[in-house]
Amino acid sequence: LAVRLADYQAPAWRVTDVELVFDLDPEATVVEACLRVERDAGTDAVPLRLDGESLELLALEVDGGPLPAERWRLDERSLTLLDLPATATVRTRARIRPAANTALQGLYLSGSAAAGFLLTQCEAEGFRRITWFPDRPDVLARYTVTLRADRARFPVLLANGNAAGAGDAGGGRHWARFVDPHPKPSYLFALVAGRLERIEDTFVTAEGRRVGVVVHAEADAIAQCGWALDCIKQAMRWDEARFGRCYDLDAFHVVATHDFTMGAMENKGLNIFNSKYLLADIEQATDDDFRHVLAVVGHEYFHNWTGNRVTCRDWFQLSLKEGLTVYREQEFESDVASRTLRRIEDVRTLWRAQFPEDAGPLAHPVRPLHYSAIDNFYTATVYEKGAEIVRMLATALGREGFRRGLDLYFSRHDGRAVTIEDFLAALGAATGRDLAPWLAWYAQPGTPELVASGRHDAQAQRYALTLRQRTPATANRPEGQALPLPVATALFGRDGRRLPLRADAASPPVSDDGVLLLDGAEATWQFEGVAEPPVVSLLRGYSAPVRLHQDVAAADLALLARHEDDGFNRWLAVDTLGRRLFADILAGTASPAALPLWTDAIAAVLGDDGIDPALAAELLTLPDEATLSEGRVPVDPEAVHVARARLETALATALEPDLLRCLDRPVAVASQAIDAPAQARRRLRNRCMALLARAAPTHLERVRLQWREAVNLTDRLAALACLLQAEAPDAPAALDDFATRHASQPLVLDKWFSLQATAARDDAAERVAALTTHPAFRWENPNKVYALLLAFALRNPRGFHRADGAGYRLIAESITRVDALTPQVAARLATSFGGWRRYEPVRRAQMRHEIERLRARPHVSTDLADILDRSLA
Ligand code: ARG
Ligand code: ZN
Repeated sequence: LAVRLADYQAPAWRVTDVELVFDLDPEATVVEACLRVERDAGTDAVPLRLDGESLELLALEVDGGPLPAERWRLDERSLTLLDLPATATVRTRARIRPAANTALQGLYLSGSAAAGFLLTQCEAEGFRRITWFPDRPDVLARYTVTLRADRARFPVLLANGNAAGAGDAGGGRHWARFVDPHPKPSYLFALVAGRLERIEDTFVTAEGRRVGVVVHAEADAIAQCGWALDCIKQAMRWDEARFGRCYDLDAFHVVATHDFTMGAMENKGLNIFNSKYLLADIEQATDDDFRHVLAVVGHEYFHNWTGNRVTCRDWFQLSLKEGLTVYREQEFESDVASRTLRRIEDVRTLWRAQFPEDAGPLAHPVRPLHYSAIDNFYTATVYEKGAEIVRMLATALGREGFRRGLDLYFSRHDGRAVTIEDFLAALGAATGRDLAPWLAWYAQPGTPELVASGRHDAQAQRYALTLRQRTPATANRPEGQALPLPVATALFGRDGRRLPLRADAASPPVSDDGVLLLDGAEATWQFEGVAEPPVVSLLRGYSAPVRLHQDVAAADLALLARHEDDGFNRWLAVDTLGRRLFADILAGTASPAALPLWTDAIAAVLGDDGIDPALAAELLTLPDEATLSEGRVPVDPEAVHVARARLETALATALEPDLLRCLDRPVAVASQAIDAPAQARRRLRNRCMALLARAAPTHLERVRLQWREAVNLTDRLAALACLLQAEAPDAPAALDDFATRHASQPLVLDKWFSLQATAARDDAAERVAALTTHPAFRWENPNKVYALLLAFALRNPRGFHRADGAGYRLIAESITRVDALTPQVAARLATSFGGWRRYEPVRRAQMRHEIERLRARPHVSTDLADILDRSLA
């Protein structure tokens, strides 16, 4: 039952206004909807088809009267009205059951029926579980929402838009009304009702609007909301300064819930967050959590313009809002925290998650051509590769040009539902460029290969750089076409100094900031005034999401590690040296002589007092096993694990004195400070400690000291991870202590589950299975399932791919169990089998068997079936 981009048709019926009245109750909520509908002038008397699922019809009226039976049809997925006049008022009443809604789409209950609160999740197709409606993003309506509920049980009532009255409803009930002046698609609808505490502040926008900024959470979590409130204000200010975008309602509400399938949701004026991305304090959150809160709070807030004010015409355009908003989020964190660190993390994510996705059976274009379950397209490709395309456009147009382009995009399309073509057209019109070739980035799956080669002519003092690209064919697609690739480039002399980039007149253009735009299959640049063979640094800042093939001598990489002033490429040089050694170990061709170039390069950077400690920590972090397996066929996960461990031990041993020096350096920051420098220091120290624990068991004494004296979660967790990794005799007791200390803190317990799920032990599968019966584990809670089972499947390759298939069986059984509760979560778990074809024959057969067995079971959800079918295709 696939939906196709090519079949898109504008809606024949529009909804101009919606009035919703909710009588809220966890067991049975009654929803009355009044839709003002209008038939498109150009269309004939087509029926009005409204989406609706899991709704019990209580009443139906058109223009104030009942509708004869032959003029309406109801089925499991829709309500169709026939022979309506060109404008009409449709009133429906439905009963829904929030407490029984474990899918967590539509209106559902977070927490217990006695004490929890009610909330909604509508993107992509949850609104149809609330009322009958054309549940598609190109139907934009003005909403008026009235909530009624028991006052004692649900003291706080929230919906999108501006507050427009509240009062007593008699019988212990009260009501509140909200009017949202901005027309919006149904996926942005939200309500929240329950016993929530709040913290708040006022923000005055650059346009002079006074905005109440309010963060809501349950009583036991409200003390952890201060950081989020701070982040919201930072995001508001940043979007004004960097993109000229101001907030547009009287209030901005944010709510935290422990029960959420995804990260967070940008509902208009009422963002709802997975508590994991909103709550943060020094005792219950790590430094990474603090940064993730900053980024996700920013992300959802930035959607107010990129997603809400300008929305998507259809779900194929999902990356129009997500790619652009991820890019904005990345820029926000880069500007207010650390650009290099954020870039390294984003590229690591791309390599770990998006490249394998793009190379396997679940590969799809950033703008898919068809889908049977849209919820399965909230992927690394749509989000992260989508953001890379936006980043490349920003690089190609320059900062000013890109800003002008976005300004035009907003002014042209404010209040509309548009396409990726509209986005490119606006950027192109504002900068006088034809951006049509960029559409291929959205249409073509697969990771392009970029091959660079150079020739130096000593006599003429010229250096010729040739770039070639190719997106090779795979089993399920033909070879791709050439794409526009911005390649940020620098040349360095042997002394480490930057050489000016002077291309001759016959070369393709080079921008002022050294960007070469490759827009065909191949091009050559002739650089003049290059006296000796230069060291070439390509794709600075990772300017295009491609696989680079470049023949660089190890000594040249070491030079870049020392002298590159682009932090990302400096890190990349070290990373490349490390990967080469890894490949040698794996192939059994490692020579001891090669190691020092890498370790000396790292030592040199570590000894440099000017270095950002966060970058230093990244230099000491090897790629994970998933990344190291990427691009290798067939994968032997055990061999990858062993080779990586050997390389890490070699690094630790070689750098032991440097690591100790780093750890013993006096630290001038308070250990509970959370500013960027304090976080960076902790990151480096904990990385050094982890490596030392690898180098020699005697260093575990340092770990134990830190374990006893830690005054923040980052340090405590880092120490615990070292004890576990070393399989120290006191590790089990430490785990118990940790669980006791944090027993009432669900988000911290999630980390405790993840730590054990990712420990590369022989009996990992059995341990994870046993943990599913721990009292704190709940199959109904996505965070718990992700923390234990998804972490095991994705971040414990050795355990998941155990040769006897125990890991596969555990995940397959878990998928079955979760599919009966929360199909979206089951589908996400099932993507961990997506790479099955890349493994050696025994594992390949076992994984395939589990996929087929899952598919053959009765009652497979649409979401899960879609992942399984595509995995096998
Ligand atoms: N729009 C949300 C965000 O990126 C994610 C919503 C995910 N919903 C889903 N059904 N997958 O901020
Ligand atoms: Zn988003």
